[in-house]
Amino acid sequence: MSATTQRMTVPRFTALKSKGRRISMLTAYDFPFAALLDQAGVDAILVGDSLSMVVQGHDSTLPVTLDQMIYHAEIVGRAVARALVVVDMPFPTFHLGRTTAVAHAARILKETRCQAVKLEGGVEQADTIAALVAAGIPVMGHVGLRPQAVHQLGGYRMHRDGEQLLADARAAQDAGAFAVVVECVPPEIAARVTAQLAIPTIGIGAGSGCDGQVLVLHDLLGLTMGYVPRFARQYADLRTTVTEAVAAYCRDVATGNFPGTEPTP
Ligand code: KIV
Repeated sequence: MSATTQRMTVPRFTALKSKGRRISMLTAYDFPFAALLDQAGVDAILVGDSLSMVVQGHDSTLPVTLDQMIYHAEIVGRAVARALVVVDMPFPTFHLGRTTAVAHAARILKETRCQAVKLEGGVEQADTIAALVAAGIPVMGHVGLRPQAVHQLGGYRMHRDGEQLLADARAAQDAGAFAVVVECVPPEIAARVTAQLAIPTIGIGAGSGCDGQVLVLHDLLGLTMGYVPRFARQYADLRTTVTEAVAAYCRDVATGNFPGTEPTP
């Protein structure tokens, strides 16, 4: 196996920071996209609870259940041969005590082929992160904007409290997290936090000073039906491609152009 096709493990992922190698991460929720992302060379795939919004059509990440996350994570886990696969712990699977959090995260690792979990929170989740890590479960933290707290925050707002952000990121690191997502934070604050941590920061709406970047796949491909954050960059317009392809098929069926007169093999 060459270095480029080597399986991304948690220790290799964390070591990318000291090598100064920028890290790419994207979400995926199904077999074909997970396989394509893996073949395209992304470092890590997140089965995000954004599944609730971009796949299930809800207006927040709150409704998706643990069973639904495990269903999708098992599919993604089977599709991926190389990238690190991380699964979001959905609300409120890690808020009900450390024992319950370990039981829920253990289900994710036992029932999928995924290697790590991600959970939102810093200082207030440090004990839970430590309990998961003590059980041998790798944890990615998530600080700054926490979408699961959308009702408490009153919307998807930029997190501007640099001291709190640093305290949260440090708490996640000290509790044993192997990396931390930093969401929707002014770039200079995210860069400062990145410089002070030994573990990689993976930014989303946090500027280029993070060690890596993550995007929701449907935002990148132009497939999102609802809210698209301003910081997302669209690299393709699959919504138009799909609509035009299906409309062309419907026209061909209507006119008899499909299947046409060629003999069926
Ligand atoms: O659920 C998700 O997709 C996420 C990313 C936005 C980081 O948590």
